[in-house]
Parts: sequence; C-alpha cells; structure tokens
Amino acid sequence: MEFPRLDPIPIPAPVWLMKVLSLLTMALHFFAVQVLIGSLVAVLILNYRVRKHSDPSAKTALSVIARRIPIVMTYVINLGVPPLLFLQVLYGRAIYTSTVLIAVMWLSIVFQLMAAYYLLYVVSDRASKGKSVGWQAFVALMLAAGIGQIYTMAMTLMLKPEAWPGMYAKTATGLQGIPHEVTMMPRWLFMMFGGLIAGGCWIALNSNLSTIETGTKKVLQKLGTQFTIAGVLVQIGFGFRVIAKQPLEIQQALSGSALNKVGTALWGICAVVTLIIAVLHLRKATPSLWLGWTAPVTTFLSIAGAVLVRDQIRDLTLASKGFDVFNRVESSNWFVIGLFLILFVAGLGTLGWLLSVMKRAKGNSEEVLA
Ligand code: HEM
Repeated sequence: MEFPRLDPIPIPAPVWLMKVLSLLTMALHFFAVQVLIGSLVAVLILNYRVRKHSDPSAKTALSVIARRIPIVMTYVINLGVPPLLFLQVLYGRAIYTSTVLIAVMWLSIVFQLMAAYYLLYVVSDRASKGKSVGWQAFVALMLAAGIGQIYTMAMTLMLKPEAWPGMYAKTATGLQGIPHEVTMMPRWLFMMFGGLIAGGCWIALNSNLSTIETGTKKVLQKLGTQFTIAGVLVQIGFGFRVIAKQPLEIQQALSGSALNKVGTALWGICAVVTLIIAVLHLRKATPSLWLGWTAPVTTFLSIAGAVLVRDQIRDLTLASKGFDVFNRVESSNWFVIGLFLILFVAGLGTLGWLLSVMKRAKGNSEEVLA
C-alpha cells in the first residue's frame, strides 16, 4: 500500500525543530488531559463519600477540584492545537487518510468536547453549592475517555496503511471504527491510567491551599497521593504491554534506537521518583509544598519520556512501510522561525507571570457551607 504522494510545497522549518516543538507541546497536552481525567475520577469518589457519609471536608475538597476542572479543560484544548498543527505538517500523508476513513467519529469529537465542557461547568457550579454531581461528572468522564479513544484510534490507524483499502472498500461514508488492532487498548489504557498519576499530583498540590481548613487539606493530600501511587503501579504494567504488543520487527528496531532508550529511561526513572515522592507525601502529617510541587515536575518528565518512545514507535513503524518523516524538502525562513521562538518564549514567560500573580492574590475561603 502506498502513502499519498509527498506535498510538493517545501516545509518552512527543519523537521527536527518541528518535531521538538511537537513533542514538547504534546507532553504538555497529555499532562493536561491526564489532570482532567484524574480530577473527574476524584470528583466521582468524593461525591460518593459526601452522599454516603455527609463528610464536610470531603464536600469542600470536591468543590476545590470541581471548580478548577473547566480551567484544566482550557489547557487540554489549547495545548492540543499546536501538536495537531505539527502532526498535519509532518505526517499529513498518513493522518489525513486515517481520519477521513473514520470521519464521522473523528468529527464527533467536536460535539463530544462541547458536551463535556458544558457538563464541567455544571459540575463546578453544583459542587460549589454543595449539590450532588454524580451523573454529570460520570457522563463528562465517559465523554473525555471516549474522545481519548478516538484519538488513539486515529493515531493507530495512521500506522496501518495496509488496512486503508479494505476499510474504504467497506464504506466511503466515514461511518466506521478501525479494524481490531492489538496495540490499541494498552495504548489507550496507558494514557487513561496516567490520569491517576497527573491528576493525583494536581489534587495533592491543592492540599497546600491556604484558603481551606485542615480537614480538607488532609482529604486532598491523602486522595491525591493514593491516586498517584496506584496510577504509577498500573501504568508501568501498561507501558510494558504497549511495547510487548508491537510487531516483532518494531520491537527489534526499538531496542536499537538510542532515542527510544533515552525515552524509556526518562519515563521509568521519573515514574519511580514520582512514586517515591507520593509515598513520602502520603506519610507526612501535614501537606508539603515542596513534595506537592516536585511530583508534577517528575510526572511531566515521565510523560515527556513516554512521548519520545511513542514518537519512535510511530517513526519506526512508518519507516518500515516506506514513510520517512525526515524525507522532506525544506526551505526554512529563519526570520519567521526566530520571531516565532521569541513569541513562544515570551508567551511562556507571560504564563509564568500570570501564575505568579494568581499565587500572590489573596483567595477567598473555599469552604462549602450548604
Ligand atoms: C477531552 C479532551 C481530550 C482528550 C481526553 C484527549 C486525549 C488524547 C489522547 C489519549 C491522545 C493520545 C492518543 C494516542 O496516541 O494513543 C491524544 C492525542 C492528541 N490530541 Fe488530544 N485529547 C483531547 C482533546 C484534544 C483537542 C481539543 C485537541 C486539538 C485541538 C487535541 C489534539 C491532540 C493531538 C494533535 C494528538 C496527537 C498528537 C500526535 O500524535 O502528534 N486533543 N489526545
């Protein structure tokens, strides 16, 4: 099976630079996605606890997490756009075909996303008033997990050009899923269980808020660290499964790839460090700001390692089927690239400044009295 022909227009920046920016923004997107997933699971657990035992600390903890989820979603979406642009420029010949074949599902992401976003606002509003958020949070979680699965399908199908003609022959309406593929489920579950890790770090970090009382702090500290511990243990299992399910020649190519080794080491070491931090934080009598901040950093680095491995799986698989991502005519416009990099760094700086202003702002009490 041939990939569609190369776009004759040269690309405006070196492939390596586009790849670095794509991997960086993808790691940021995955971090935000996982905070979203973990926060929704936490909301469900806390909601159950509040309804069952009418625990006021759990009620405030629920509101603290729920009120921040719509903000997390803005990061999920905005950090998803840059990797989407790089993906189209670098891998358009594969990703366009795969998404056109499953077009109905692919386009449904927009509507699922709108529905999930709406529900997040409902959850946030109801939780701050002390009302139950069970089914709203559950549906939002299912929609988010479903969106994640559609992304996994598209990213898996783009690596299987041999499946495209059969799918197109079956229907040209775009109304179909992808044929059974053994790598898909572990890949998706790896991402979803990452939700417990990054989400747990986020929840534990919030236990340091000065606007909540000791009982709420304890609830967030305990739940967040327990999430992270469980998440790391399960995710390590799925990590090995993702590799074990690859075809033999890809496994061999991966074992010879230096970038894969760097990515695997970064992912594994940082995951274990995150696990240790979470255990130490769980054992502390009061929340620790230091441990609260280091865990998200090591988690991000671990995600960056996994992103590197994922990228190697993609490039090696495509290369084995005749698609070399580096085989592009390049005509770099260094003035524009320089301007872009300056604005990119300035944007990150502004974001840091905004966060520091937010941190210094005097917050109102977050207690839920209803
Ligand atoms: C609730 C919302 C979302 C969830 C749960 C989600 C989840 C995911 C997951 C699980 C993957 C990895 C798929 C895999 O490789 O197995 C992924 C990849 C990706 N997502 Fe999202 N996503 C969401 C929203 C978005 C949005 C709104 C955008 C773009 C505007 C976006 C852009 C991307 C891109 C471009 C990739 C793949 C990047 C690449 O492989 O180069 N995502 N997302």
